[in-house]
Amino acid sequence: LWEANQRWAQHAPVLGLGVVSLNFERNGKPNPAAVHDLGCAAANIMHEAAARGLQAHFMIGIEPARVRELYGVPEGFQPLTAFALGYPGDIASLPEALRARDEAKRARKPLGETVFTGAWGKPAL
Ligand SMILES: Cc1cc2nc3c(=O)[nH]c(=O)nc-3n(C[C@H](O)[C@H](O)[C@H](O)COP(=O)(O)O)c2cc1C
Repeated sequence: LWEANQRWAQHAPVLGLGVVSLNFERNGKPNPAAVHDLGCAAANIMHEAAARGLQAHFMIGIEPARVRELYGVPEGFQPLTAFALGYPGDIASLPEALRARDEAKRARKPLGETVFTGAWGKPAL
């Protein structure tokens, strides 16, 4: 993990890696949906975690070459993300900067900025 992620993720009881399989198993051809597939898996992990009272936090801040070396990830597979999994902790125990980030108001883009109809940039909603 990048240092900024190590700072908080070191306390999680479970750390996992998201690894992309770059080629189809059946014919060895490139899988153009590989990154999409990992995104779907990540979303399912987050939903299942939430349903069980857990929290999953995904990170792009990893060192893929180091992951490959440490865990013997073979060619054809690309380490892409990591995730921390655990029960929510006591927010008061966090250093100030991390607490502020966690308590900050979440801003979500209006759907009209990303859901288009007819042409790119034409809001569907
Ligand atoms: C692909 C991806 C990579 C991310 N990488 C990091 C990361 O390296 N470190 C980090 O602290 N948060 C990272 N985040 C952000 C968190 O996973 C999370 O989405 C963010 O903290 C917002 O949380 P919220 O849904 O509770 O508002 C990443 C999110 C995504 C979707």
